[in-house]
Amino acid sequence: MQDLKTIREEALSAARQAPSSRALYEVKMQYLGRGGAVTALLKGMKDVPPEQRPAFGKQVNDLRAALEAAFEEAEKALSARELGEKLAKEQEDVTMPGRKRAVGTLHPVTRMKNQLIDIFAGMGFEIFEGPEIENQYYNFTALNTPEDHPARDMQDTFYLSEEFLLRTQTSAGQIRLMEKKKPPIKMLCPGRVFRSDDDATHSPMFHQMEGLVVDRGVTLCDLQGMLDEFARVMFSEHSKTRLRPSYFPFTEPSVEVDVSCAACGGKGCPLCKGTGWIEVLGAGMVNRRVLENCGIDPDVYTGFAFGMGVERIAMLKYGINNIKLFTENDVRFLEQFKD
Ligand code: PHE
Repeated sequence: MQDLKTIREEALSAARQAPSSRALYEVKMQYLGRGGAVTALLKGMKDVPPEQRPAFGKQVNDLRAALEAAFEEAEKALSARELGEKLAKEQEDVTMPGRKRAVGTLHPVTRMKNQLIDIFAGMGFEIFEGPEIENQYYNFTALNTPEDHPARDMQDTFYLSEEFLLRTQTSAGQIRLMEKKKPPIKMLCPGRVFRSDDDATHSPMFHQMEGLVVDRGVTLCDLQGMLDEFARVMFSEHSKTRLRPSYFPFTEPSVEVDVSCAACGGKGCPLCKGTGWIEVLGAGMVNRRVLENCGIDPDVYTGFAFGMGVERIAMLKYGINNIKLFTENDVRFLEQFKD
């Protein structure tokens, strides 16, 4: 009986002092668990004289019930306190605005490239891409620009070796395609080109879009008709084009193509420097020597080619005044080109 009293007092005091529900569980097991003190008392029942057993058994059962109740109460108090502490620690301000996830946009050059491809794909052009590292033959020689030809100085070339260079123009794609494919040809060759050139409107790396059409009876009129359509879709439905004589070794005749200024409608403004026209690309009838170099009979087939700067078209269309903006990756600039 003395044991029972001690056990009760110790157990109640341990339950009261348990610092956490985990610790309380340990205490509970010490008394009520399989190897616990109260369980041991029940097991020791056989040693109690038979006449005392009912009284002793009742005492032990009372003790167990009392401890169970005490543990349960302590458990309730502890878990309520623990929940309160947890909630206080994890408090969230549900009125706080969420973190914004920045959504990226396509680079304006990519957008312009896609737009150009859309326009010309709609006219039946197929895409052909050549390598950025070219040799002299594809970039110059086959394009009727033999060595020592002064036209090689028209573009300041980055040479990698005597033979290899970074292509200065997507025109190299004309040769690569015509070696593989015979007329009818309608090709669009987009890609990066490289020139040792650097100012507000020239960058050492920029993008070009080459067009090539070769078939029987293709004329300069076809070129202008197609470019008129391009200008209407790209700039404004009132846009017109104008051809001015020019020179490229791989076209004859060669032309510079101007588009009527969309900003002033051709009246003359600062953008077009008062002329009403803006130069957008170079073009011409494919030189018969170029066709011959690719095994295409120039007496049977004729063609036209054009090459435009993607950045230049984007600058005109969006009023961008410095080509460097395309490579600086300033999000304040890039962000403006969204759908
Ligand atoms: N390749 C020329 C340039 O880069 C542009 C061009 C292409 C001209 C096709 C005529 C025909 O300046």
